[in-house]
Amino acid sequence: MINIAVFASGTGTNFDAILENINVGKIDAKLVLLVCDKPQALVVEKANKANINTFVFNPKDYVDKLAYDSAILEQCQKNNVDLIILAGYMRIVSSVLLKAYPNRIINIHPSLLPAFKGKDAIKQAYDYGVKVMGVSIHYVNEDLDGGAIIAQQAFNNEGMSLEEAEKHIHDIEHQLYPKTIQKLIKEGI
Ligand code: GRF
Repeated sequence: MINIAVFASGTGTNFDAILENINVGKIDAKLVLLVCDKPQALVVEKANKANINTFVFNPKDYVDKLAYDSAILEQCQKNNVDLIILAGYMRIVSSVLLKAYPNRIINIHPSLLPAFKGKDAIKQAYDYGVKVMGVSIHYVNEDLDGGAIIAQQAFNNEGMSLEEAEKHIHDIEHQLYPKTIQKLIKEGI
């Protein structure tokens, strides 16, 4: 059984979906650690309720990114983490973690990459007027939303409001992320 860590900064609906899929046996892994850079984030409360170890930090307490990524790495190693899953983690992962976890860090992004990288991707795509929207899951490298794509799912958003498109994207995420994680585990990551 492999050990996974989820890194998140916000609400944690993808965290919920992953945990739920683990609990019902649809992901063969143990969720051993939540890493969060926002002490007030709802996802921290969720992890505490589920008795999952957390490493919650304030980036301002560290001299630089390498310093807090080293602290994160120490926690990952202490918890024997095999795979790191970014789910709404609003920071670029540095070489400290990338070198320690080569091809073992993945991310979900709410657009059809390489289009609409970065923040507010759903609104960016909507405002651009695209007719097809979607979700991407990709390996993480040092470029923002830049690593090789693992899975994508698209839909036709014609006639949808921004809110409807957002809801549809999140519904896709909550199915596609667990399914893709399990596929990677089955394939030996
Ligand atoms: C998701 O839309 C994900 O694609 C993006 O951040 C959002 C996180 O949402 N990277 P949640 O915290 O999992 O609810």
